Amino acid sequence: MRLRNVPGSREYIEANDYAIKNPEQHRGNWRRLFNKPADSKLYIEIGMGKGRFLTEHAGNNPDISYIGIEKFSSVIVRALEKLNELEYKNIYVIRFDAENITSIFDSGEVDRIYLNFSDPWPKERHAKRRLTSSAFLNRYDNILSQNGEIIFKTDNRSLFNFSLQQAEAAGWNICNVTYNLHESKLVTDNIMTEYEEKFVSRGIPICEMIIKR
Ligand SMILES: C[S@@+](CC[C@H](N)C(=O)[O-])C[C@H]1O[C@@H](n2cnc3c(N)ncnc32)[C@H](O)[C@@H]1O
Repeated sequence: MRLRNVPGSREYIEANDYAIKNPEQHRGNWRRLFNKPADSKLYIEIGMGKGRFLTEHAGNNPDISYIGIEKFSSVIVRALEKLNELEYKNIYVIRFDAENITSIFDSGEVDRIYLNFSDPWPKERHAKRRLTSSAFLNRYDNILSQNGEIIFKTDNRSLFNFSLQQAEAAGWNICNVTYNLHESKLVTDNIMTEYEEKFVSRGIPICEMIIKR
């Protein structure tokens, strides 16, 4: 969802209190930053785009802490504008490439990772960049808590099948799988993302899987 370069977006992020500038400094201490107890839940979304999904979750669950990660400034600005209006206390945003995610979260620090409509990177030579490749699953394995889970949604069947195969091969427990989320029982507590809304309005089925370590 890379928007064309938005002039001033980096400066906007720099000046915004919802954007964490030196995330490495909070590694192992995120709950303290949120002023939450050590046994509270921390959920993150990787590739949050304009942030509608995570923002709505944060509004519905004030006891849970949320962190959105997105690598492009132009997109993050939209999420920050929304947060300025809402003034929630349980969500932050980080401009960051998830490739280095273990440098910002300590081992076992995260309870849930949301991956929504991740870029498919269809060329085989780019497979390692897919956010559900075994390289990324290894990183998630490191930061997830004992009962931690990953919830992955996509419209892209081949990315979905690739992701299932990568998770199985790496020994993850595949807890739930649907090839049509909006007609499955899993949809009851579903919050739609910007991309999901577009695909659903075109009648494209959405796949979802939930995996645990
Ligand atoms: C197709 S968009 C989906 C956005 C949003 N999750 C949604 O469903 O509407 C994928 C997003 O993931 C971000 N992204 C891709 N690879 C990433 C990475 N390695 N680290 C952080 N963000 C990434 C992209 O910049 C893009 O905004």
